[in-house]
Amino acid sequence: MTDTYRLPAVANTRLNALVDRIEAAPGDLINPREFENLQQRMDLGAVVRTLPQGLSEEDLGGILRLALLTECATDTFATAIDERAKRFDAPWLSRFNNNVWAPDEATHHTPYKHILMGLGYQEVDLDREIRETRAMPFTHRGGDLPAQVTTFGVVQEYLTDNWHGLIARLLKSAAPEAAYMATRVKRRETLHTLWYRDMTALQLEADPGLIEPVASALLKFEMPGNDILPELQSSVTRWLPLMGADFQRITRDLIRFVYEMMSNTRTAGRFVLEIARQNGRKLGPISAHQVQMALNRLGGPGYGLVGEALLESVGLDYMFKPQRGRQDSGFALYEQPYERLRGLVRTWVSNQMNFKVTVGGPGF
Ligand SMILES: [Fe+2]
Ligand SMILES: [Fe+2]
Repeated sequence: MTDTYRLPAVANTRLNALVDRIEAAPGDLINPREFENLQQRMDLGAVVRTLPQGLSEEDLGGILRLALLTECATDTFATAIDERAKRFDAPWLSRFNNNVWAPDEATHHTPYKHILMGLGYQEVDLDREIRETRAMPFTHRGGDLPAQVTTFGVVQEYLTDNWHGLIARLLKSAAPEAAYMATRVKRRETLHTLWYRDMTALQLEADPGLIEPVASALLKFEMPGNDILPELQSSVTRWLPLMGADFQRITRDLIRFVYEMMSNTRTAGRFVLEIARQNGRKLGPISAHQVQMALNRLGGPGYGLVGEALLESVGLDYMFKPQRGRQDSGFALYEQPYERLRGLVRTWVSNQMNFKVTVGGPGF
């Protein structure tokens, strides 16, 4: 695979142009000094009294420490990404990583240190934990190709965005200043998700053969916290529902990003079947591999159905359905069998698909 990652020159030009645009307009970057005044006004004692049922003060400390410590390990992740960018000759990825992403991420742990100190944690203890976490080894498991690094980034950044949002919700009523800080970080993660999505889309557009490694990156995805903070990360599954995580929305958002990376329902359908094949899934008695072969023989329109079914299974069908009233009248003739087949696939998608996303805490 190492030898086969060669994007056409035009794709490299587009990726470089995208990074140029990001460098020129990186959005509302955080200046850690902007939190200084807010820090004085926070009353975090009140937060403990407003925690949802089932979450203890100790849990709150764990949730905030997970945010602080994964965010402080930026250099560990940045080194892993840059090393892969250089190995596969993707200067656009190095440039994004070193000039935009890493300096941005370096500001994300600051608010959490303020908040934890407001809760009574000692600076010296937090600094020691930060040092220890920065020294932990990290294995990038999503695959090494730039397309895999950026795919991993989409999921990682999205879940991190979600984590900061849930923290902001916990803090909002009792300590709005602290909630604002978490929201500032969340907004940066939203941008990171979208940038990685666009980078992945440009690579897939240039080389549809990347569907296979991109699917594998998604299947192998694991939160970096599993490596660097296993004890805290293992509590995330218990914390998420207590914090009010909306799993349906998370699944829907992730599927929407996948669809946007694939640009159309046909490619999204090919991608779904590639995931199913790599996962050894079946469509009724037939293996996903056999379905793939049958759809290849049909020339491909079937993939569109699978992609549409994927979107329908999470309520995103508006993304491909024509506007009401603008539908071609000839379409009605095909509608019934088409809908029936799509219904079959849709049921299969919702029953069988498992993106094995370890929905978890923050990281980047
Ligand atoms: Fe990020
Ligand atoms: Fe971050």
